[in-house]
Amino acid sequence: MCTHPNKKTDPRRLEAELAEVIEQVRGTDGGEPSDYLADVDGRDPDSFAVAVCTTDGVQADEGDESRAFALQSVSKAVTYAVALQERGLEPVLQRVGVEPSGAAFNELTLHADGRPYNPLINAGAIMTHALIPGDDEQARMRLLLQRYSDLAAAELSVSQDVLDAELARAHRNLGLAHMLQAADMLPDDAPEVVRGYLAQCSVEVTVSQLATMAATIAAGGVNPVSGERVLEEWVVQQTMSVMFSCGMYDASGQWMAEVGIPAKSGVSGALMGAVPGALGIASWSPRLDGQGNSVRGIGVFEELSARWDLHVL
Ligand code: DON
Repeated sequence: MCTHPNKKTDPRRLEAELAEVIEQVRGTDGGEPSDYLADVDGRDPDSFAVAVCTTDGVQADEGDESRAFALQSVSKAVTYAVALQERGLEPVLQRVGVEPSGAAFNELTLHADGRPYNPLINAGAIMTHALIPGDDEQARMRLLLQRYSDLAAAELSVSQDVLDAELARAHRNLGLAHMLQAADMLPDDAPEVVRGYLAQCSVEVTVSQLATMAATIAAGGVNPVSGERVLEEWVVQQTMSVMFSCGMYDASGQWMAEVGIPAKSGVSGALMGAVPGALGIASWSPRLDGQGNSVRGIGVFEELSARWDLHVL
């Protein structure tokens, strides 16, 4: 029996359920917000927002839903989708693999075959960003912002404060990009590519916009709010596959078993999940666990997965 919300679901009932989930999960202890982002936008570490958008376009949000936050590593999944759509599967797979790395997101290693393990760790995300068509940093970001906005059904932009904080501590990402450049994998210089990658991480969304992005992926690439086809079906299939196997870093296996929803987390405390053919879910709460995933975000997804029987297997 289908228990998840669909177009017959009253959005007010959904909001009441999300409010219940927020109250249930709010008390979850532990985790620390990322130190370098703590004061860039005056964010309260206990901010908490949740939204859903069904593939029929029914939307609901609760908590601090009007606040904007940076996509951070959630952007890696979206950029991977754009790269696949613009370049095709084979050219992308020649540059980045689809294997879980089992290591931290910013690990300074490449797979033995010379490619980054997957597009959702930093080495692979930097590589994937470089595959976005465009002669320079600005052109790549223009295309990405257009596609991100199409997915969110809203005009999105880069937070300069977040980007400045990122640029001030980019050494490790520069190291990864230089490794890729040394292996002749980058079409542009490492510093340019890293600046673009960090700009994509600094794109701001509200929780409802993030849920719409996730719902577009869950709906096979058609945005259920705008009605526009943004991504092809094979692209979202490939994107959800890496979200499922690699989206929660070195906690991805446990997540797949317990929550069972293709998802992607970010250091801002953002979390996006796509349940194919059903709905997109987004949460934002800045306290992170040891693997860099939002502590309350995990609680929200565990609860919604159980409540609405969302495990995809
Ligand atoms: O590459 C970085 O350092 C960040 N801008 C993105 C990292 C991130 O979100 C990792 N996530 N949990």
